[in-house]
Amino acid sequence: MSKIVDREAVRQAIEKLPLFSSNALELLQVIADPDHELEDVVKIVKFDSALTMRVLKAVNSPVYGLIKEVSSIDRALSYLGERMVVSIAVQENTGQLLSKPLEGYQGEQGDLWRHDLFSAIASREVARYAKGDFDLDLAFTGGLLHDIGKSIFATFWKESSQEALGQIEQGAVSDYLMAEQDLAGLDHTEVGYEMARHWKLPESLQAVILHHHHPAEAIECMQPLVYAVHIGDIVSMMAGCNTGSDGLKYHLDPGYEEFFDLSPTTLAEIVLNAEEEFSKAEESLRS
Ligand SMILES: [Fe+2]
Ligand SMILES: [Fe+2]
Repeated sequence: MSKIVDREAVRQAIEKLPLFSSNALELLQVIADPDHELEDVVKIVKFDSALTMRVLKAVNSPVYGLIKEVSSIDRALSYLGERMVVSIAVQENTGQLLSKPLEGYQGEQGDLWRHDLFSAIASREVARYAKGDFDLDLAFTGGLLHDIGKSIFATFWKESSQEALGQIEQGAVSDYLMAEQDLAGLDHTEVGYEMARHWKLPESLQAVILHHHHPAEAIECMQPLVYAVHIGDIVSMMAGCNTGSDGLKYHLDPGYEEFFDLSPTTLAEIVLNAEEEFSKAEESLRS
């Protein structure tokens, strides 16, 4: 039977989440600023010994096949790109949230992390086809965090998830997000938004998390970014990298055409590039 979720219980679960470290938060703030330079990111990493160690471990992963060991952060960063540092910092600061099984979505352990990482890479690929200026690494970061709300929502949602699939099948609701709203009284985007506010993440990331299924609802200046993640998310599901039972049960908003030049050929290219980068990134980030 459907069960309206107790908002207060969700609020309490979010309140208990540990905060991001000040370095990780600074890193996300720097990335969110379109005028930042690689040097700003290097400085943050150098200041944080745990992050330094993990970045060096990632760049020296056998998957990249580098002949000489990389021991400088500057070189590691120019090889890996800022996005890998973001991935490591997010992985460290969200702890088990991204790797635990998603009961309410019949998602297995690690599914959310893989979906988010794939979506991040795909969102960045989509951003390369933007009609205007675009910060590629911000699209990546948005993709990486877009479904974070599922980590908390899944526990509250498990009793209704079967019913949700039934509702979609019967056409009673038009997509999975509506089923969440209808049966639980709230959805994973709202929960994610509250988490982002708790963590004091930059506003652009809050907008991505809240609006990634309905990008037209984001304020105008955020729309290109939110649309990039909207498409990246769908590409990820099309590539079979989803979080369980909700895979591809969302709508594609054609409004992306205003911001991106995407043809079926470029989409196919995006999927191929994303698959290639994803398998390397996933392997090198395995701790
Ligand atoms: Fe989502
Ligand atoms: Fe997603």
